[in-house]
Amino acid sequence: IKVTQGTPEVTQGTPEVTPEIVAACQELVLDNDKLQTYMTTFLDNIERGLKKETHDDAVVKCIPTYVQDLPNGTETGKFLALDLGGSNFRVLIITLDGKECDMQSKVYSISHEVMQGPGEELFDFIATCLAEYAVEQGVADATLPLGFTFSFPLIQKGLTVGVLERWTKGFSCEGVIGNDVVQMLKAAIDRRGDVKIDVCAVLNDTTGTLMSCAWKNNDTRIGLIVGTGTNGCYVEKQANVELFDEPDRGSGNVIVNLEWGAFGDDGGLDFCRVQYDRDVDARSINPGKQLHEKMISGMYMGEMVRLAAERFTKEGYMFGGKGSEQLFTPDAFETRFVSDIEADAPGTYNNVKQICNDLGLADATEQDYVNLRYLCACISRRAAHLVSAGLTVLIRKVGEKKVAVGIDGTVYKNHPNFHNLMMEKIKELIEPEYEFSLMLSEDGSGRGAALVAAVAARVAAQG
Ligand code: GLC
Repeated sequence: IKVTQGTPEVTQGTPEVTPEIVAACQELVLDNDKLQTYMTTFLDNIERGLKKETHDDAVVKCIPTYVQDLPNGTETGKFLALDLGGSNFRVLIITLDGKECDMQSKVYSISHEVMQGPGEELFDFIATCLAEYAVEQGVADATLPLGFTFSFPLIQKGLTVGVLERWTKGFSCEGVIGNDVVQMLKAAIDRRGDVKIDVCAVLNDTTGTLMSCAWKNNDTRIGLIVGTGTNGCYVEKQANVELFDEPDRGSGNVIVNLEWGAFGDDGGLDFCRVQYDRDVDARSINPGKQLHEKMISGMYMGEMVRLAAERFTKEGYMFGGKGSEQLFTPDAFETRFVSDIEADAPGTYNNVKQICNDLGLADATEQDYVNLRYLCACISRRAAHLVSAGLTVLIRKVGEKKVAVGIDGTVYKNHPNFHNLMMEKIKELIEPEYEFSLMLSEDGSGRGAALVAAVAARVAAQG
């Protein structure tokens, strides 16, 4: 697919996308004028988040992370890390030794009941997984330093203090908002009494991703997640972060967790939201919140495509005007289908055919396949363009000539065109003097957590 300002070119031979569908999908195209509006508004939102006077009413919170130093490649030690942020929870043991990093980990899936049940039960679950794994790995008595990657909006009051501002991404455990999640973790571990830990840092996944990438590449200044949720962080001059009144320890910088998923929650994105966005939001567990995230991230992308397909079926343009029960069932169209469908080579329909069959659409025609692929491309491309405009603002804000962006998340990793769409769009939007690179930074939540703990230890030792 070539990048143009129009809708995706999916005219890969016959048949062509139904013209009525192309016309109706124009609203999903964000041309560069619209992206300029987005960028001006976004920059204004960041400034409001950073300034004391405007912070309380700002929707993009720009939270100081208390991480002031980046790794320098000399970090060593053995660490535990916990990673909570999506439908899986992970416990990791990480050994850092200069440029080497060894990681062992175990994944535990989090049930719907735990995600939306009482907060204490969530932390008991976390503590149980941690204890089990620590025993299994023979480190239960070692009191290893622990980094806790907690990928939700935390108001940090120190490197080891994080008060939950609100839940995002399908979590809604009662009794956690307003509390320090490090204390809740410690209390759960004390309730068990069979494992000793030393929490050295609580961090966001974006921070972990930035740190993990910085460990390999000195130019890293931005961390980005496009997965279940979406968010970014960047290295800001401490003097610009008015809420952060810690002493400058030498770097003059601090990483700011933007919580950009909340961009638009004050109406700032209404100029480009469409009916699918409003429908996805209305049916979510946090209506009116995380509106930017809902336009971009994996938790919502598949559903957005499904809503479009449902509409065009009901209007008689797809699936014989009939569709299927699954096609009309909320959340039945998974986000990974979007990546799979767009991964079909031009003129071939293997994945799309399989997915249609699985969705009870065995009668689908080649025309339907082409149309469905077009809907996927329109929605994923819009997401990539929004992310690109956001990154353009951040790259300029960092202000250095050469900037590397560390990126993780299932959408970025699995979608066949996301990276390329971003590269091309940022090049279009940014001034030519900026040199930027987008690097996959896998396992930021694990290795990054260890790095935050290790850098804190190194800096403390230097005193
Ligand atoms: C959500 C969370 C944010 C996290 C992002 C990516 O937006 O609020 O903290 O970084 O998802 O996981």
